[in-house]
Amino acid sequence: NPFVTVVVTGVPGVGKTTVLGKVVEIMKNNGEQVLVVNFGDYMFRVASEQGLVKHRDEMRHLPLRKQLELQEMAAESIRRDAEQKLSEKGFLFIDTHAVIKTSTGYWPGLPENVVKELRPDSIVLVEAAPEIILARQQRDKGRVRSDIGNVEAIKLLIEMARVAAMASAVRVAASVYLVENVEGDPGIAAQKIVELALKLR
Ligand code: AP5
Repeated sequence: NPFVTVVVTGVPGVGKTTVLGKVVEIMKNNGEQVLVVNFGDYMFRVASEQGLVKHRDEMRHLPLRKQLELQEMAAESIRRDAEQKLSEKGFLFIDTHAVIKTSTGYWPGLPENVVKELRPDSIVLVEAAPEIILARQQRDKGRVRSDIGNVEAIKLLIEMARVAAMASAVRVAASVYLVENVEGDPGIAAQKIVELALKLR
């Protein structure tokens, strides 16, 4: 990629979208050219147009082959948009998941075809204690994340996400970077991600 690409992942409700909001703020204040895209938005646009889902949290329960199709389309569209919007000095942040807990098992968010399309320099795992993630999910009323499960299930999902992120990183020689989203201050994680991105240039 001519521009720096950072894929930001984390289990549902850990706060990656919140953290990325702060990342953009800091980067723009520093005068950097930034594009943040949400992978789920790209999938949801097509899935809702096709009348497959009404809510984004329904997508992980679609037939796996349908999810695969949506996933592939999203990766291609993101690449195209980034190439149009960013110069070589730019930074692309992609808000997505290393692993998805689907109705038919754990499924890679960044399989070979996707990660090769996105070509990240680094894959970030935003993490927090499972109890904290569960509390954030429960406070966030606009979303339906109850299928993610209890503290034990979240703990397992965090482990699966680490394994999946490393497996994806191997395909494109990206780094895997762990960052904690500290309760009450998403700016701390954001600052670390900004520092990472600047070092990747
Ligand atoms: P997606 O759209 O990525 O989900 P999301 O909207 O990004 O939200 P998440 O559920 O992951 O939560 P979040 O971690 O961003 O938390 P938030 O910042 O909202 O995914 C939707 C679907 O798209 C997936 O299920 C899947 O079907 C599909 N998809 C996506 N990528 C895919 C891929 N690669 N392959 C296949 N399918 C894919 O924060 C949560 C709450 O916590 C908020 O209330 C917030 O205020 C609070 N909070 C955040 N940080 C803090 C903090 N530090 N302290 C206290 N509270 C905090």
